Amino acid sequence: MRNRNVSIRPASIDDCQDIFGIISDPDVIKATFKQKKIPLDEHKIWFQMALNNPGRFLFLIEDNDKNTLGMLRFDIQKKYADVSIVLNKASRGHGYGPQALNLGCNVIYQTTGVSDYRAYVRADNIPSCKAFTKAGFVHNGTTTIEGTEADIFVYTITDTSSNAV
Ligand SMILES: CC(C)(COP(=O)(O)OP(=O)(O)OC[C@H]1O[C@@H](n2cnc3c(N)ncnc32)[C@H](O)[C@@H]1OP(=O)(O)O)[C@@H](O)C(=O)NCCC(=O)NCCS
Repeated sequence: MRNRNVSIRPASIDDCQDIFGIISDPDVIKATFKQKKIPLDEHKIWFQMALNNPGRFLFLIEDNDKNTLGMLRFDIQKKYADVSIVLNKASRGHGYGPQALNLGCNVIYQTTGVSDYRAYVRADNIPSCKAFTKAGFVHNGTTTIEGTEADIFVYTITDTSSNAV
């Protein structure tokens, strides 16, 4: 699970604290629909439940030296896998997000056969909209989440596109 600069690996319980650091960043909180800081106790419960959930896939995004860059999450729904991504502050703006998204979608496609991916992005989150577009996602309408406008991005993987990372 490696790209030129970025690799992904399944998250383990040992990553709980690292991920807590990333999701506690004010910019990341601003990118969420609830915009609420999650307390550590709540995060620990969420993280353990996520690892135990067969329909949820958590990946750590790492660089070549195994430094943590961020987290990638897939939730398998009926037709789509919903995808969410966060990078730590220092790792943003280098194209790692699109690379990780492509890697992750390919891994999920290979392991589950799910070929359709969907992301909900706050309409005011321009870097995220750009990153999903760079990864090949296409804008597919808008909706409202927690009273906030959300852009919907979708991506379909095919046998011919699954190796194109
Ligand atoms: C959104 C995110 C995953 C994108 O990944 P990334 O690796 O930073 O994406 P890219 O490097 O391809 O950057 C995408 C675009 O946003 C811009 N950008 C990235 N970070 C930025 C920042 N902090 N401020 C302004 N622009 C920024 C880049 O310049 C790029 O624009 P360009 O295509 O015109 O050059 C990452 O920035 C992130 O984790 N942000 C905080 C959490 C978040 O918003 N998650 C998504 C929730 S849906």
